[in-house]
Amino acid sequence: MSNLAILGGARAVPEGLIKQWPPISDLDRSYVMASLEGGIHTFGPNCEALEAEWAAWNGNQHAIATNSGTAALHMGIAAAGCNAGDHVLVTAYTWSSSATCIIHHNCLPVFVDLDFETMNMDVDKIEAAITPKTTAMVVVHLHGLAVNMEKVMAVARKHNLKVIEDCCQAHGALFDGQKVGTFGDCAAFSFNQNKCLCSGEGGAFVTNNEETYATARSLWSFGETRTPLEARDYHAYALGWMYRQNDMTAAFARAQLTRLDEYLATQRENAQTLLTGIQGIKGLIPPVEPPRHTHNWYNFTSRIDMEAIGWTGEPTVMRDAIMKALQAEGVEAGVWQQFILPAMTVFRAQNAYGWGCPWTCPHTEPVEYNPEDYPVAQKHCDTHFGMTRPLRAPNDKQVAEAVAEGFHKVFENLDQLPLAEA
Ligand SMILES: Cc1ncc(COP(=O)(O)O)c(C=O)c1O
Repeated sequence: MSNLAILGGARAVPEGLIKQWPPISDLDRSYVMASLEGGIHTFGPNCEALEAEWAAWNGNQHAIATNSGTAALHMGIAAAGCNAGDHVLVTAYTWSSSATCIIHHNCLPVFVDLDFETMNMDVDKIEAAITPKTTAMVVVHLHGLAVNMEKVMAVARKHNLKVIEDCCQAHGALFDGQKVGTFGDCAAFSFNQNKCLCSGEGGAFVTNNEETYATARSLWSFGETRTPLEARDYHAYALGWMYRQNDMTAAFARAQLTRLDEYLATQRENAQTLLTGIQGIKGLIPPVEPPRHTHNWYNFTSRIDMEAIGWTGEPTVMRDAIMKALQAEGVEAGVWQQFILPAMTVFRAQNAYGWGCPWTCPHTEPVEYNPEDYPVAQKHCDTHFGMTRPLRAPNDKQVAEAVAEGFHKVFENLDQLPLAEA
């Protein structure tokens, strides 16, 4: 009889060992209760304090508390000065809103294939993707590993492109010792349930540029003000949205922020324990942390080397079988994005607003989306599985070691895995 949990054996990660995220303490309770009893439930004193504290933590001149990372990304495209019909570069494999934020501003996403090793946009393929209509790029620090910002900024300077950093997964990730969100023109962070700083939902827009800040601050709240310091007169000066944070959520974020450095240190230690524990497993391609990059290990994403394990069928069949076996071991592995972005309907249909808009905008040039043009992203997509919660604080070495044992059990018994029909 096999000892694989999926076939009835004991789990490598016992039930209840992995703790919930985020850890909730008396500090969270007291901040949230004080906000609740303070009487201001809309954008309030905790939001203002969070803006100052987040800007200080990340090393930015300005932060604006938003109700999501997606809102902050949309603000970024607009505040960076993109115009209707502009082409904006973005990686072919990321969260959908890293690219739909571009469409929301009537611009067209142009996808760049992945670098397999880092899983980020291939910085050596950016220049070839630039068109005469390209004015900006969204640079996603995927899974908590920074993109090589030296190369990105060199291309941006050469071609006069704005850079919007998508740091939604990358709190505290560093390139050459510098925090993400401080390289480009502006950046977006998410504070949703699963993120390294969690307040349920929420996010932040950050920038070091005064003009970008003024624009973002205005359109964040109905386009109501002409400068960030002006009082509201309820006149819509520009097209804006309602992207404000609320006080209770900001209070939760502030309480969590006091422990963020500690959380990230734990996450990094746990990732190192896991990396050591899974070293040399045949058929497993673990994530990397190249020199000059400091990972935050938001998502520990691995790939399966189908050739090494002698699998010639559909990669997703083997990947899904491995993932299910890991889940049965209690490992909490999961597939993240199941489709690369150029294969998603919202982009392929080229009809976001009806009448083919914004792709038919008279100020633009056509952009085609052919998934075959992104073979690296597709290979990554079909062979990956990721994991978040087991590495998060307060989980510790014991959890990371149990997860490593789960990986060993499954990869050393691949011949026993139940396979779905192809
Ligand atoms: C890379 C990336 N960009 C953008 C977002 C959007 O963040 P939010 O869910 O806060 O809108 C997410 C999170 O889901 C993400 O992972």
